[in-house]
Amino acid sequence: MEKEVSSMAERFQYTILKKERLTDSIYLMDIKAPRVAKNCYPGQFVIVKMDEKGERIPLTICDYNREEGSVTIVFQALGSSTKLMATYEEGEAFRDFTGPLGHRSELIDLPKEELRKLNILFIAGGVGTAPVYPQVKWMKENGYDVDCIIGARNKDLIILEDKVRSQVANLYIATDDGSYGFKGNVNDCLKDLINHQGKKYDLVVAIGPMIMMKFVSQLTKELGIRTIVSMNPVMVDGTGMCGACRLTIGNEVKFACVDGPEFDGHLVNFDEAMKRVSMYKSEEGKLLLREKEGSTHHHPDCVV
Ligand code: NAD
Ligand code: FES
Repeated sequence: MEKEVSSMAERFQYTILKKERLTDSIYLMDIKAPRVAKNCYPGQFVIVKMDEKGERIPLTICDYNREEGSVTIVFQALGSSTKLMATYEEGEAFRDFTGPLGHRSELIDLPKEELRKLNILFIAGGVGTAPVYPQVKWMKENGYDVDCIIGARNKDLIILEDKVRSQVANLYIATDDGSYGFKGNVNDCLKDLINHQGKKYDLVVAIGPMIMMKFVSQLTKELGIRTIVSMNPVMVDGTGMCGACRLTIGNEVKFACVDGPEFDGHLVNFDEAMKRVSMYKSEEGKLLLREKEGSTHHHPDCVV
């Protein structure tokens, strides 16, 4: 895939105001997008399209500045599209920056008295720290103290530590290899907080890789702690059109991009969702799903 080079900043309005490399493969960008910045809330996502022919990339919003008219996105340069995205520099611009999409975090709409009574723990796994940040920031701005665990494979992969620390009552860092903070994954850290540090939580918000959200939800189910997860990783086009993000939530079929991205972690069929993601990686897998699901493959309310 090649980058479209001709004076994009002049032609398109979604200019990159700031670019920062957070780790070897994770990038942060502030994008000039006043309409999105004015209307977005924590939990929602945008779809970035770099140029006319570019793939649609759904990314959960990491931060926004309504006065400046900017929105912060964080992405990992893994596939060809995100690797191309990482070559864009400050002053250049994206073709489309659609949003805000999806529902905002349900915490924002809880009655204040109810929210005030809850001991809330956010669990951020790796790149999932980016979508956790606007939520803990909103909680702090609205006067609620929350705790947070950031988990990463090693010290070098921890992102946004200082930003998150500034918004929470207690920040716990866990690294799989023990190179920084608690040694172990986020679940080991959660067990330690509950079993050895006398912590009690009423609600967990877990955002990170699907396998992490699956195991956190399993543990919190055993512990009787309500859990919200963000199913952004199953999205492909983010429009309700492709059917990729079809999920089984309890006995219901839901679409992450239209009905979510946040769901009750105890009701999500993670094994099915993970299988679906791997099938979507190949043309053969996509065809198989299309054959199986036929016309119900697409969301019935799809208007995009
Ligand atoms: P990673 O694989 O390095 O894992 C980060 C941490 O998650 C680990 O250090 C560990 O603490 C925890 N974890 C992982 N597997 C676990 C398990 N089996 N049990 C308990 N804890 C476990 O994460 P990464 O490479 O930074 O993450 C990339 C993934 O994050 C991508 O798949 C992307 O789709 C996903 N992501 C999700 C969201 C979202 O909204 N849910 C947002 C951004 C990125
Ligand atoms: Fe395509 Fe939701 S991501 S339908």
